[in-house]
Amino acid sequence: MLSVIYVSVADPGLTPDDIASLVEGAQRCNARDELTGALIYNGQNFMQLLEGPVAKAEACLARIRADRRHNGMIEIRRRLVTTREFAGFSMLYSPLFRDHDEDLSRLAAQGTLDPQDERLIANFLALGRHGGAG
Ligand SMILES: Cc1cc2nc3c(=O)[nH]c(=O)nc-3n(C[C@H](O)[C@H](O)[C@H](O)COP(=O)(O)O)c2cc1C
Repeated sequence: MLSVIYVSVADPGLTPDDIASLVEGAQRCNARDELTGALIYNGQNFMQLLEGPVAKAEACLARIRADRRHNGMIEIRRRLVTTREFAGFSMLYSPLFRDHDEDLSRLAAQGTLDPQDERLIANFLALGRHGGAG
C-alpha cells in the first residue's frame, strides 16, 4: 500500500459548511476506494494522510491535487507500507487538533520539515490510535 502525507494552503473563502461537505465527500469516496486516513485544518492549511492500494491512492491524490478548495500541495512523507496507520477511518477529521497551528502554517509555506515538526507529525499520527479526540 501507499501512504502519503501532504500539506496545502486552503482557499481562504472556505466556510465550516464547506469543510463539513469536503470531509463527507472524502469519507464516501474513500470507503468506496479502500482508502483510509486523516485530515486536519488550522483555518488556513490542511494536512492529510491518505493510505491504501497504490493505484487508488495515486488516483485520489491526483483528484485532490486538482481540487480548487486548496492549492500548493506539498508531499512531506511518501512510503510503501504493509499496515495502515488509520485503519478503520475512511477519513478521520479532527477539528480539535489545534496545538500545532503555527507549525502547520510554517510547514505549508516552507515545504521542508524542521526538527519541531516531528512532534506535529507524531501527534497527528497518534490520532489514529486515540480516535481523533484532540
Ligand atoms: C483538503 C482536501 C482533502 C480531500 N480528501 C479527499 C479524500 O481523502 N478522498 C477523496 O476521494 N477526495 C478527497 N478530496 C476531494 C477531491 O479533491 C475530489 O473532489 C473528490 O475526490 C471527488 O472527485 P470527482 O468529483 O472527480 O469525483 C479532498 C479535497 C480537499 C480539498
